[in-house]
Amino acid sequence: MAVTLKGCYTVKPTEKTWCGRLALSELDQTEQVSHVPKIYFYHPPENCKYPTIASTLRDSLSRVLVPFYPLAGPLHWINNGRLELHCNASGVSFIEAESSSSLQHLSDDFNLYRLLAPTVDYTLPIHQNPLLLIQLTRFSCGGISIGLTISHVVVDGPSASHFICEWARLARGEPLQTASFHDRRVLRAGEPPSVPLTECHVHVEFDLPPLLLGKNDNAEERKKKTTMAVLELSKTQVETLRKRANGNYSRYESVAGHIWRSACMARGLKEEQPTMLSITVDLRRRIKPPLPEGYFGNATLDTVASGLVGDLVLEPLGYTCSIIRAAIEKVNDDYVWSGIEFLKNQEDLRRFHLDAIAKESEEEVFYGNPNLSVVSWLTLPMFGVDFGWGKEVYMRPATHDFDGDFKLLPGPVGGSFVVALGLQVEHMDAFKKHFYRDIE
Ligand code: COA
Repeated sequence: MAVTLKGCYTVKPTEKTWCGRLALSELDQTEQVSHVPKIYFYHPPENCKYPTIASTLRDSLSRVLVPFYPLAGPLHWINNGRLELHCNASGVSFIEAESSSSLQHLSDDFNLYRLLAPTVDYTLPIHQNPLLLIQLTRFSCGGISIGLTISHVVVDGPSASHFICEWARLARGEPLQTASFHDRRVLRAGEPPSVPLTECHVHVEFDLPPLLLGKNDNAEERKKKTTMAVLELSKTQVETLRKRANGNYSRYESVAGHIWRSACMARGLKEEQPTMLSITVDLRRRIKPPLPEGYFGNATLDTVASGLVGDLVLEPLGYTCSIIRAAIEKVNDDYVWSGIEFLKNQEDLRRFHLDAIAKESEEEVFYGNPNLSVVSWLTLPMFGVDFGWGKEVYMRPATHDFDGDFKLLPGPVGGSFVVALGLQVEHMDAFKKHFYRDIE
């Protein structure tokens, strides 16, 4: 598929916005220093001609950047792997492109999807990269895609979804629905470290996960070639898994448990191999008091479920789900605040950003073989986004070529799931086989 760039613009907030240094929370500071790309695909708009679409998107973007002004400023390293956000309205990037392909021919080919979301040049100093980059691509059939690439240091999935929904509302000519809340001090941003914590909680989620038995580091695994896939689960298949897990677990827990077992088998791991599953938990309503509505930033904490491969694959699915449930239940008010204190007391956060600082590092937290991460996008308000010409046909994360990186999305029919995943090439076919065979 050929994609030709037609124009590149910097879009700035349409009005004067607050300028200054915005303190980031520890949860922002320890996120990956990279952007999360996703793409929305739309049928040819019937009620809107192309030049109008591009100008509507650019105009509404400059208006939505007024309330969402942090997205228009760059990040700066300060010291010891800590960052701050300079709100200076320098703007976001808006690219227009054309493709000779038509929407029908895309069929979940991630090599093509890479061309539909803006790429970020991480060799540049961090302050030279926009926090938000958008690419509008027009296909030969008249359909369009909107690729968004958003900095994970500045927002998590729920906040990114909030921004996208409000942008679409302005594009449709409707008022904003929920104001964005920017005072990250509610998560103790900007406070100096407090006295060291007595170890009331063990925060294994900040440690390096287990290595393959017999290895001293993950260097070899990190170098292996990876590939991506999208697998669908019908509502019936999801319910089958839930029933197999005794019906006591959520759809996320049931499907994540099934994925974990399938990955252990596909990777051919030994029964005595320790393995970890990382789960991202939205803490907005799990802390007391809950975060203000519209909190804009990172308010998620990773928790980990761990086990031995032999136990996971030989015990019934409900056993794996029970470990996942226990890991999620740990994330309560106490646990979140002790996690934040733990991070505050780290003099140096560089180990969380070794990928950005050292480019490739064996010490960086790596959830590839024999581990994995299963992130839920199931309940994020990022679907059904109508900019004025109807809801998307579908949405996809643009890249997933990390070993062990799984995302769960709602499928096309109510109750169905889409699993977007990255695995080592040598494990992908076996994974698909186990994943579907064990549902039948
Ligand atoms: N809309 C509709 N249903 C919702 C909902 C919402 N906003 N929030 C929860 N539910 C439903 C869930 O779908 C689930 O239903 P099910 O049992 O039929 O599957 C039930 O309520 C329980 O949900 P929850 O308590 O969230 O547990 P879970 O096991 O489904 O999910 C987590 C566990 C940790 C994945 C989830 O709580 C969470 O934090 N999700 C957000 C993850 C996130 O932020 N992702 C982006 C990362 S950048």
